[in-house]
Amino acid sequence: MKALGRLRLGVNIDHVATVRNARGSAYPDPLRAALMAEEAGADGITAHLREDRRHISDRDIEALSQGLGIPLNLEMAATAEMQAIALRHRPHAVCLVPEKREERTTEGGLDVASDQNRLADFIAPLREAGCRVSMFIGHDPRQIEASARIGAAVVELHTGAYCDLHHEGRFAERDQELAGLRAGAALAHSLGLEVHAGHGLTYDTVGPVAAFPEVMELNIGHFLIAEAIFRGLSASIVEMRRLMDAARA
Ligand code: PXP
Repeated sequence: MKALGRLRLGVNIDHVATVRNARGSAYPDPLRAALMAEEAGADGITAHLREDRRHISDRDIEALSQGLGIPLNLEMAATAEMQAIALRHRPHAVCLVPEKREERTTEGGLDVASDQNRLADFIAPLREAGCRVSMFIGHDPRQIEASARIGAAVVELHTGAYCDLHHEGRFAERDQELAGLRAGAALAHSLGLEVHAGHGLTYDTVGPVAAFPEVMELNIGHFLIAEAIFRGLSASIVEMRRLMDAARA
């Protein structure tokens, strides 16, 4: 199968806020990082407003909503508080993620299948407000099918287990996990879902996922911010973009 289109890179700037919050200082500013990411070729900016506000704050979301020239993807838990914030800012995209142990499937993604009715009601006003709603899930077909059933536009497949297995040198299990992700991407696409992927991706692990023809967007954060310490944020992003394009070709 030929790739469905150009692969977008969403840069997650949460950990710029982590560094700021470590000292309770006013810097580094996540919006400044986001604007630099935009200049370096990011197609979108991702930020996770956690219930405990451990990195991104409400003011960051406001600043990003007003200051960005590229789409904002707001990651959040499926709570009433977060829904109200999303409806106030109406970001381009909302990605629902698990924050509590009981919301997780074995792969670490959101357990959509066990919570279908509530999640269908939860996303309806977000869809009406024009947000593209995404479910962050493992590649389990039950979770993919449930996401399609409740009317999500997008699924973001959780690549964390694949990346961990790679870095632990457990290559047979890694390849099995990658095969599951590949099958999941194909199933999601066949059900009319747009397919994204992310979590834990690095220069070493991005290629095989970027090569899945159905995947339209990768969301990458922690590694890019970590690599920025050594080569600067722009160069860190430019290299990721290069590896994605090479894998796609
Ligand atoms: N996608 C989702 C849904 C996430 O929750 C995260 C982490 O916030 C990412 C992508 C990015 O993961 P990482 O920071 O490990 O690249």
